Amino acid sequence: MKEKFTGANWNENEDLYTQTFYEQNLSQFWRPEDISLQADLNVWNILPKDVKDAYAKNLQVLTFLDTYQGDIGMPVVSRSMGNDDHQKKSVLNFMAAMENAVHAKSYSNIFMTYLNNDEIRDLFIWGEENQHLQEILRIIVSKYQDLDKLTYERNYGIKKYKDIDFKVAQFKAMVASVYLESCLFYSGFYYPLWFYGQGKLMQAGEIINLILRDESVHGLYVGRLAQDLYEGFNDELKAKLKTFTIELLEELYEHKIALIEEIYDEVGLSHDVKIFVRYNANKALMNLGFEAHFPYEEVNPVVLNGLNTETKTMDNFSMKGNGYQKMKSESLKDEDFFFEEEKING
Ligand SMILES: [Fe+2]
Ligand SMILES: [Fe+2]
Repeated sequence: MKEKFTGANWNENEDLYTQTFYEQNLSQFWRPEDISLQADLNVWNILPKDVKDAYAKNLQVLTFLDTYQGDIGMPVVSRSMGNDDHQKKSVLNFMAAMENAVHAKSYSNIFMTYLNNDEIRDLFIWGEENQHLQEILRIIVSKYQDLDKLTYERNYGIKKYKDIDFKVAQFKAMVASVYLESCLFYSGFYYPLWFYGQGKLMQAGEIINLILRDESVHGLYVGRLAQDLYEGFNDELKAKLKTFTIELLEELYEHKIALIEEIYDEVGLSHDVKIFVRYNANKALMNLGFEAHFPYEEVNPVVLNGLNTETKTMDNFSMKGNGYQKMKSESLKDEDFFFEEEKING
């Protein structure tokens, strides 16, 4: 049978929420060069070596996660969408472009400002050789690869292809993606936010806040896609996949804890960072439509203070460099994510 090609028709809503996520993603677009980092050097230059070391290693963890989310995570989820899901694909592709071209590039900009070439090279080698970071990526990326193989089988009519296997792999890849977006990043975000909450390393803190704002939208969107998929499964499969979701979290959490201790023990913050990660693990589960796994704990108020809910960077008098003027962007509010029929069509 001849393949039929279809065009992206933005005049019609593909579903109840994708066009809202499209608007949100594009309105908060930014470039790494929007934020000049020079002003941070006064503080950076007088920090003790172990503090600098922990700060840089955190950004390196974030770099690795963003690299693979951009190179494989988002693109694989995007191409697994149905052939006519052009709007969904466009939103996922846009998010994919942000991960590496904007987020990973921003971490490199911070490295280029704070560190010399040898230090940067050593930092990348540290990431390549870090057992726990590598293990976390191996777990996440394997879910993307499993899905990609089945997407290939679907698209190219391979005989052994089974639709249910494909859907299960798609769900698992989305769960991995949401864990990365809504939980795994947060041990890395913690330290820059901790400084920002105390008025230090403000430019890097602004960058982290912009990245965090993107990742929270990414986690919500992929989580929503995962929920839609989950709804289509029978009860037996639902129970199995719920167990998978918790077991995957526990597996990732174990490596995350080891990585946190490796980086944060030196500066005495491991205990607090673990709380922050558990708090965000619960948020990831919420994005997937599941209940919290860890008991509620208070997050360090200094770090909450570092969460820039006002999005200072997006006004004319912010600390960002003299780039172009972007379109106006609003902070997300909870009510932005209730997708009722009237709101979408109204
Ligand atoms: Fe990212
Ligand atoms: Fe992301």
